[in-house]
Amino acid sequence: MKKSIGIFDSGLGGLTVLKELAKKFPDESFCYLGDIARLPYGNKSPETIRRYGLQILEFLKEQNVKALIIACNSASTVFLGENEYEGIPLLNVIEPGSAAALQISVDKKIGVIGTSATIRSHAYQETLQKMDPGVTVIEQACPLFVPLVEEGVVNDVITEMIAEKYLKEMKKQKVETVILGCTHYPVLRTDLLKVLGGHVKLVESGEVLSEQLEYLFQLGKIEKSHGPRQIRVCITDITDHFEKLARELMAPETLGILEKVVL
Ligand code: DGL
Repeated sequence: MKKSIGIFDSGLGGLTVLKELAKKFPDESFCYLGDIARLPYGNKSPETIRRYGLQILEFLKEQNVKALIIACNSASTVFLGENEYEGIPLLNVIEPGSAAALQISVDKKIGVIGTSATIRSHAYQETLQKMDPGVTVIEQACPLFVPLVEEGVVNDVITEMIAEKYLKEMKKQKVETVILGCTHYPVLRTDLLKVLGGHVKLVESGEVLSEQLEYLFQLGKIEKSHGPRQIRVCITDITDHFEKLARELMAPETLGILEKVVL
């Protein structure tokens, strides 16, 4: 049986990552797990997030995967520094996101936005400062962004007003590179740029993960697949709303039947 790449997120936001990877690697199969039943992770404790994460890694391992990707930033913070899970290469979004931000930042002043759990962990700040001790990091939790995306309030004046409030300090400090430290935020790209200014560079997880994955292929740590592929999307709860949102997030890629799983 062909091996796939396992990806997990607390919900559907990680489909922004799956979509990017599916586009970049057209011969690869993917198995996605969205833990909708327990979303959000962003307001939970590190212990709880790790317990959920381990259950999901175990589930994905059983789906015959050759690599595991933690697309969820909140979950990535509690698996930082772990490069494999039971012999399977494990990727998180914090390290590649930080490296990408440092690469494009001219003034070494980097903004990080994410859930309360991600910002509280200071995982991005510590990783960035370890990579470049001279960097200045401005962190901001934006807890209302996830529900706005889940409810489809995008390109909307309400979202812009909330973004204005959250991003006030970053604007004041003239930050020009911002890490979107949450799976949902790429959906708000237009709203964010409207508030921050079009010149600001946004670092997105999907892009940085595809580079990281390519690197693992080149190193021979993961074998490439060929021929027809399969994209499975498994979720821990299903409603018409989630189904519609999943298809919208993945468009133009068409999804088969969403699989409901119990962990
Ligand atoms: N997937 C989460 C993240 O990237 C956002 C949603 C949540 O709070 O569970 O941090």
